[in-house]
Amino acid sequence: MKNIVILISGSGSNMAAMVRHAQQEQWSKRLQTRVSAVISNKAEAQGLDFARAQGIATVVLDHKAFDSREAFDAALMDEIDRFEPTLVLLAGFMRVLTAGFVTHYAGRLLNIHPSLLPSFAGLNTHQRAIDAGCRFAGATVHQVTSELDHGAILAQAVVPVLPDDTADTLAARVLTQEHRIYPEAVAAWLRSQG
Ligand code: GAR
Repeated sequence: MKNIVILISGSGSNMAAMVRHAQQEQWSKRLQTRVSAVISNKAEAQGLDFARAQGIATVVLDHKAFDSREAFDAALMDEIDRFEPTLVLLAGFMRVLTAGFVTHYAGRLLNIHPSLLPSFAGLNTHQRAIDAGCRFAGATVHQVTSELDHGAILAQAVVPVLPDDTADTLAARVLTQEHRIYPEAVAAWLRSQG
């Protein structure tokens, strides 16, 4: 069985969509893959409750307990590697990762970002897209490299930006598409590995 570890910091809706998709599409039987663990850098991340209710192992590793980014990432790698993951998924994990971490998981570390990369890397993507007058916005699934929000693109979804959109209404429209493309991109990645 191949293991997926998902990293979250908040509501975890992308993680929940992945778990539900894996159940519906019978990943354990068809792809010999399961979501083995959900790890959060925040104890209050709501997604942890969903994972626990699903019987998935959860780990909380508070980054504030570490002196440096390197020390936190080293401890995070230890926690992740206990599950011997084929794939590590960032799903609303709001931490910048060290080069050492990214190198350790090179080729098996994916992220979902709420913009049409390479536009709007970083934070506040929806307000920035509205402010720029974009007619379209979207989300991107990509390989993680040491350059923030770069790396090969695996999937994208496009949504319209409507005249009366706020960052929140646009974010909700994009999030619906994130829940669709991230599980599909992961399934395609798993199939490509044979
Ligand atoms: C999602 O929109 C995700 O794309 C974004 O945070 C949200 C997390 O929602 N990620 C980033 O901004 C990464 N820089 P979720 O916790 O409900 O999945």
